Amino acid sequence: MESQMSYHAARAALEWQIELGADEAIGDVPVVRYGLPDKLTAEPAAKPEHPAPSKPVQAAPAPEAAGLDPVAVAREAATAASDLNALRAAMAGYEHCDLKRGARTLVFADGEPGARVMIIGEAPGREEDREGRPFVGAAGRLLDRMLAAVGMARAGDGEPVYITNVMPWRPPQNREPKPEEIAMMLPFLARHVNLAAPELLVVMGNTSCQAILGQRGITRLRGTWTEAFGRPALPMFHPAYLLRNPGAKREAWADLLSLRARLETER
Ligand code: URA
Repeated sequence: MESQMSYHAARAALEWQIELGADEAIGDVPVVRYGLPDKLTAEPAAKPEHPAPSKPVQAAPAPEAAGLDPVAVAREAATAASDLNALRAAMAGYEHCDLKRGARTLVFADGEPGARVMIIGEAPGREEDREGRPFVGAAGRLLDRMLAAVGMARAGDGEPVYITNVMPWRPPQNREPKPEEIAMMLPFLARHVNLAAPELLVVMGNTSCQAILGQRGITRLRGTWTEAFGRPALPMFHPAYLLRNPGAKREAWADLLSLRARLETER
């Protein structure tokens, strides 16, 4: 007899999956992985009469196991990239950050490369991961409205901006990136800033401030110009924070005016 799950049991099972990090449907039908051929098993060319047990193909050793420092590997790959396309390719080929394995896409950048302003967010969320562009979800829509309010835009009319994130891959369940994950992606970000060559940086949110400025406490840091990657940098509240705390939009507005004023005076 076919047993049917009750609504409550099905819901509990779904919540359990989400707890475990399986929060995306990636196909219409389930895949029975036990029924798939083992991709890691090397097939002998011709079947001998008494086949020896096939040997599993060795996975590439983890960089630590191979005596490599993942940060040094990242630095070398980033330095070798001579333009933004090469940098994107170098990041796509970087295998040492575990976040890559859980993400659908590499979220590299959006907007105008070469813009005078470069905005650095934290990490892609679900919608960014799907689309492969930073800041396309609710926080991104607010960011676009904030920029438009001071005559800036990632596309179309307005002073152009260029947008990226500290992390190019979505962390599972939008958790904060770990310090070691940030450390290995930081050389790519530094190179990204160098190649995009903006005059001013906007560092959005606590995670970005921690990664780039080595400091947390966005409430204290925001609005005060500092320096990052050798350029003037303005820490600002993250638009996701502003969605949760609309009262803080007042400070965000002051920071946008400060950004606009700095652009005008340095023109
Ligand atoms: N939050 C970020 O910091 N970056 C994105 O791309 C989206 C949300």
